[in-house]
Amino acid sequence: MLDQLSQLEKEALAALEAVEDSDALTAWHRHYLGKKGVLTLLLRSVGELPKEERPAFGRAANEVKARLEAAYQSRAEALRQEEMQRELEQGALDVTLPGRPSGPGHLHITTQTLRQIYAIFAKMGFQVYESPDVETDELNFGLLNMPPHHPARDMWDTFWISDEASSPGASTELGEVSARGVLLRTHTSPGQIRVMRERCPEPIRVILPGKCYRYEQITARSEHQFYQVEGLAVGHAITMTNLIGTLTEFARRLYGPERHIRIRGSYFPFTEPSIEADMDCILCGGEGCRVCKYSGWLEIGGAGMVHPVVLQNGGYDPDEWSGFAFGMGVERPAMLKYSINDIRLFYGNDLRFLRQF
Ligand code: FA5
Repeated sequence: MLDQLSQLEKEALAALEAVEDSDALTAWHRHYLGKKGVLTLLLRSVGELPKEERPAFGRAANEVKARLEAAYQSRAEALRQEEMQRELEQGALDVTLPGRPSGPGHLHITTQTLRQIYAIFAKMGFQVYESPDVETDELNFGLLNMPPHHPARDMWDTFWISDEASSPGASTELGEVSARGVLLRTHTSPGQIRVMRERCPEPIRVILPGKCYRYEQITARSEHQFYQVEGLAVGHAITMTNLIGTLTEFARRLYGPERHIRIRGSYFPFTEPSIEADMDCILCGGEGCRVCKYSGWLEIGGAGMVHPVVLQNGGYDPDEWSGFAFGMGVERPAMLKYSINDIRLFYGNDLRFLRQF
């Protein structure tokens, strides 16, 4: 039986040499070393030997088994290396091939809406004037006719960069950022003062777009950061009619030629008289629906004739000059135009939302 064992080892090693792939290797293992393999069966037949020969045979058989296992492992490793080499040669990466094109992005819905607004006002002769997001208390409030402790400041609670509001009567040179009363602007209106001081005594026709910040509850309609577009026209004999005409034209160019405007009296400290402009609902045309909350009207923004004090603060003599100003949101008009029901989607960075526009 020992001869049989050594014959088996020779035969198994020769067969292993001839194995060319992993399937054949598995079959080899099953045939020689598997549960019903040749060597296993031979081991089981140990009982047929005389007692005194059994230990020597058992030891020899286990040694053969260990050698075959070791030979199997090294053949498996050699085959793995050969296969890897073959794969590398066959599927060699051609680094000169052009890469997969990545899809181009597109403009955010807010940017698209801003650009539509710029284009409409550009055709009406309005230039774009940029003014800073970080403002002084004086420009955001004081020079807009809201001195410290003016109750209208409560309408625009903000994020302060320094905690001290400017004292009454303090004046800040434009361009100089005072450590006192620095805040994130609550509206684009401080830009009115900046552009007036820069352009005075020229007539002005500008829009002032930009981000605004308010310390307020975030809801489906209100964000704590949002965009506004301010409008300002200063000249001789500018009237409320010019303002209403401009807003009507704007609404018609953005939402369609059939739009109508409604004017309501309102209050802003920096305009006198002040108004709110609405347009008839783009969905129901004024009949009343869910979008307009059954009122038939949708808000455009606040507006009015520039207050004489503000004109003066900008360097213009209110006896000679007059002007109108308006301020509107950007996300809310976009919500109306594209039937978006939650403002929080704008800056949630969900590509499934953004890709729709
Ligand atoms: C103002 O901010 C005035 N400065 C507008 C103005 C300018 C009046 C010039 C007169 C002359 P108001 O707080 O209503 O007004 O904001 C104007 C618009 O900004 C609103 O109609 C709305 O569209 C948008 N808006 C205001 N708060 C938010 C908010 N939390 N989230 C999104 N949009 C907002």
